[in-house]
Amino acid sequence: MSFKSTIEDLLRNYPPLFQFASKVYHKINGSFRTLSPGAPGAIRKSFEYILERDGAVSGDYYEFGLFRGYTFLQAWNHCKELKLADVNFYGFDSFEGLPAAEGIDQVDGRFFEGQFACSREEVEKNLAGEGVNLEKVTLVEGYYENALTDQLRQQHPFKPASVVLLDCDYYSSTVTALEWMDPYIQPGTILLFDDWFSYGESNELGQQKAYEEFLARHPEYKSDALWEFENHGKGFVLSAAQ
Ligand SMILES: C[S@@+](CC[C@H](N)C(=O)[O-])C[C@H]1O[C@@H](n2cnc3c(N)ncnc32)[C@H](O)[C@@H]1O
Repeated sequence: MSFKSTIEDLLRNYPPLFQFASKVYHKINGSFRTLSPGAPGAIRKSFEYILERDGAVSGDYYEFGLFRGYTFLQAWNHCKELKLADVNFYGFDSFEGLPAAEGIDQVDGRFFEGQFACSREEVEKNLAGEGVNLEKVTLVEGYYENALTDQLRQQHPFKPASVVLLDCDYYSSTVTALEWMDPYIQPGTILLFDDWFSYGESNELGQQKAYEEFLARHPEYKSDALWEFENHGKGFVLSAAQ
């Protein structure tokens, strides 16, 4: 465990102090970086996996939880390097940080309203500054609970998903994202949960609970674990249940 994680774990016992320290830390450390060191590598491996399996990648890339956009940029870069010209890029965020924690997401003070806020303008500037053609990416702005509607489906030519990165911390956000993604998730889709081990091995909280419920609603899918990745992530591939 890193020095930073040890301090975070200690401070979490004092939520007001943790929230204050987290805000100060992100304000001082405003660099364009990822909060998820393993996510870019896991995305690369996912596209390589699909390429090897199918010989091509036709589905789109979806990322729920952008923060400053660094992981989204890496997804773009990986696809460019792998010459995956048919992949469209969709990113979903409030651009105001996390909503207030409710229900089981209030289990401790680790997540709080406004955490990881980064404006849409700043994310777009970050992406464009690294060479991303903003006309080729779609950023959907708003809290998922309001933004992920049936109407949204009509506004963009969403294709089935090749790779989905769920990096939205909360159980509730993951449930909402997976529900909206339902028509675009199919056998062969790779789902990367960046916050899989946020609560250790517990499947009663966070993303593990959200995915277990998704799979219970979808007996037509079989889910196979692929890889774990830093810090708390785990990836799965779906196939048709026999
Ligand atoms: C940990 S950060 C994402 C980190 C980013 N993928 C990276 O690699 O740096 C979590 C993000 O999820 C977004 N988020 C979580 N729940 C949300 C919700 N219900 N609606 C909109 N955005 C949400 C937050 O705004 C925040 O930007």
